[in-house]
Amino acid sequence: MGGRARRRAGGNDSRRARRACVATAKHTVLRPLWLGRDAITIRAASVPATPARMRPTWAEVDTAALANNLAVARRHVGPACRVLAVVKADGYGHGAIRAAQALISAGAWGFAVSLVEEAVELREAGIVAPIVVLGGVPLVAADVIVHRELRPVVWSVDHLDMLASAVRRAGARPVRVHLKIDTGMSRLGVLPSDLTPVLDWLVADAGRTVELEGAMTHLACADDPADEISSARQLDSFDDCLGTMTARGIQPALRHACNSAGMARFRPAHYDMVRPGIALYGAASARDVELAGLQLAMSMHTQVHGVRALPAGARVSYGGRACLERDTKLAIIPVGYGDGYPRAMSGQAQMLLRGHRCAVIGNITMDICMLDVTDLPDVRVGERVTLLGRQGAESIDVHELAAWANTVPYEITCGISKRVPRIDGGDT
Ligand SMILES: Cc1ncc(COP(=O)(O)O)c(C=O)c1O
Repeated sequence: MGGRARRRAGGNDSRRARRACVATAKHTVLRPLWLGRDAITIRAASVPATPARMRPTWAEVDTAALANNLAVARRHVGPACRVLAVVKADGYGHGAIRAAQALISAGAWGFAVSLVEEAVELREAGIVAPIVVLGGVPLVAADVIVHRELRPVVWSVDHLDMLASAVRRAGARPVRVHLKIDTGMSRLGVLPSDLTPVLDWLVADAGRTVELEGAMTHLACADDPADEISSARQLDSFDDCLGTMTARGIQPALRHACNSAGMARFRPAHYDMVRPGIALYGAASARDVELAGLQLAMSMHTQVHGVRALPAGARVSYGGRACLERDTKLAIIPVGYGDGYPRAMSGQAQMLLRGHRCAVIGNITMDICMLDVTDLPDVRVGERVTLLGRQGAESIDVHELAAWANTVPYEITCGISKRVPRIDGGDT
């Protein structure tokens, strides 16, 4: 065979080999074996079943703690006040469906999410309770909102027009909305000075397409014990707007203003409903605005991946900025910022092993960090390490992690990445 012919034959063979490579049987892989320019296919061994979890890093979500925290909130606000449980951002990283199921059994009136997509996820999971969509009415979402019977937060005539058209298109019952008034957060909501056209619209509609179920505002500084005045001003402004609405014959059944911190601090501002998020997960935006009796709902664990003995003077991790001052035993920990364990905590973070605090040494990398276990005898691969939660008498809570990372507890739990499986469980 001439050179060209051989090349063509070789080309066909390699195409066949490539095809064989992708045409995998259920349990058998055909692999190309290259012999010079040509390839033959061989049958490789059966592919082993993939275990559900291989890397031993996981987060435990304690649904009993979620239920406890809702009960704490309900006791605090009393029986006349509803609790709208905030489960946006996948339930602050705990799993929105898991959280919603636990919270509805514990007596939540309904759920608040940010996105229509998040609301649809809950509906698809069979949650039929009221869902308030905090983020507003995206142009393309009005029909879905009507179809799924969601309660969007609105603040403009445009929102109301879009929803009214969707209701007419569907021939559906009026869509229930919550009108947001921007009393000082300067984020979402209608300014009190711009309220009139919205009220005009509602009066003209007379509930034919839109039912004003709620009126709400959001406090910007509820978690700052040194600043009572801004919240008081916001609440005064909200009350003025409610007065204006009443004067126009508009009386929403559900008035609400308080997030977790507001709920803890401003009893007269509970109105008809509160909107706690972080409290339900057992934390607070700041420690001194925490309700008593909350339980942390999430813990995070891993196992020692390896143990290294290193001499004094060795430099550890990227940048080599950590230089060992003594002969050191390092446990290799299979967790990094790719899991949402922030790199910003490098040089400060600690983890629990055998109930003792051990220091993370050197920069936290994407998948791995190093733990000083010199003072613990004979540390073995597979021993449990707790990054968030309790081991014996010691515990590391989300506030401590947030302080190390110079952030807020919200960002810690929301930031635990999707490659960390969430499993049901309590703290141990
Ligand atoms: C409008 C609104 N209400 C309530 C909450 C819940 O806040 P927290 O988690 O501080 O209770 C949030 C959270 O960001 C929010 O945006």
